[in-house]
Amino acid sequence: MIKGYFITIEGGEGAGKTSLITRLANTLQKKGMNVVTTREPGGIPIAEKIRTVILDTEHTMMDARTEALLYAASRRQHLVEKVIPALEEGKIVICDRFVDSSLAYQGYARGLGMDAVWGINEFAIGDMMPMLTIFMDVSPEVGLARISQAADREINRLDLERHSFHERVREGYKLLLSKFPERIELVDAEAEREDVFQAVLAIVERRLKQ
Ligand code: TYD
Repeated sequence: MIKGYFITIEGGEGAGKTSLITRLANTLQKKGMNVVTTREPGGIPIAEKIRTVILDTEHTMMDARTEALLYAASRRQHLVEKVIPALEEGKIVICDRFVDSSLAYQGYARGLGMDAVWGINEFAIGDMMPMLTIFMDVSPEVGLARISQAADREINRLDLERHSFHERVREGYKLLLSKFPERIELVDAEAEREDVFQAVLAIVERRLKQ
């Protein structure tokens, strides 16, 4: 039985998801909550291996459907091995990216179609949808500039996409936001770091109380 709370954090490149998740988890933990943080693609050995195949900068020949299937496969393994057990133990799971990434990147930006990508993902996740998704909205100009300034950030195959691809990713997320307004909450990730964090914390605390 799922007793925990499943939160996913989404957004384009350079939205600041990673540092936000670390701080959010620390803050909730200090308030006495039991929190697990994880990421996609990855989070467990099998999924991390799939991640290296997907993100390898030499794999420029990768077919779009292959890419979507690999993400879905990685998602399935990560879900059954890590996310579901933690939720069954009553933990709050905060996951860096989940199915909305596939819908925005593969479904919309790559043009496979959100319905087609949803089909393979439904097979992978069943009804295990997040209870809350934070969409950290950043323009590609700001996001990509942040990445190029961050010395420790690895550049992956998807970072190398053209600017128009990242514009489409953003449009895809906005479409998802309009489709699922009860699940997805938008946060302006171009605001000051502190303001972004406080906005996210307020949303999470409000939802957890409900
Ligand atoms: P990562 O280094 O984790 O990037 P970020 O810090 O932006 O999350 O790389 C993940 C990349 O994979 C990122 O470019 C988004 C992409 N992605 C998809 O295209 N589809 C998916 O389903 C997922 C989970 C990620």
